[in-house]
Amino acid sequence: MADAVTPIAVLLSGRGSNFVAIADAIDRGEIPARIVLVLSNIAGAGGIERARERGLEAVEIPHKGMRRVAHEELVLEALRAAGAEWVCLAGYMRLLSPLLVRAYPRRIVNIHPSLLPAFPGLEAQRQALEWGVRVSGCTVHLVDEELDHGPIVVQRTVDVLPDDDAHRLAARIIVEEHRAYPEALRLLLSDTWRLDGRRIVPKI
Ligand code: GRF
Repeated sequence: MADAVTPIAVLLSGRGSNFVAIADAIDRGEIPARIVLVLSNIAGAGGIERARERGLEAVEIPHKGMRRVAHEELVLEALRAAGAEWVCLAGYMRLLSPLLVRAYPRRIVNIHPSLLPAFPGLEAQRQALEWGVRVSGCTVHLVDEELDHGPIVVQRTVDVLPDDDAHRLAARIIVEEHRAYPEALRLLLSDTWRLDGRRIVPKI
């Protein structure tokens, strides 16, 4: 399924702490991958700065003022030019169109700060608090054409504490995100799994 070292791209829109967690895990030899491109749809995203500090290829393709598909065509061009085989969404605050999803079938990964299918979409930590759940966490999943919806790869849980606000809860969830994303990539980039419906199961 994957080469010994798979070329991956990371798409982000913000500070890029998940990108850094992935890059650190790769540097420690924990994920059989190399990052060939870091791409942001937001000019000046902190994650781009972090990528350049590490000497990685990093580009900004701002979506502002562009139609979704026109923007994605540029993104796709950059991904292909870099030779990316897998795409990791790491705080990429942009809904993907079928164009991109179909270009990388079951090879786009996303992380979401809730236990999906609960609380998809924006402000997942606030949604979880307002619902009154006692446990939340994060989910790494394969991307399909619906928002925060594809097959689940890894979930990690976090207790919701009585005095939590969205900020405090998010701060504990992000710690688990930084463990979950490398763990998920380690599995996905091995040749040891297959999909059984929505379920990721060991390959026989
Ligand atoms: C994370 O909470 C991630 O789950 C969500 O956006 C946030 C990105 O954070 N999709 P960072 O840019 O990786 O620090």
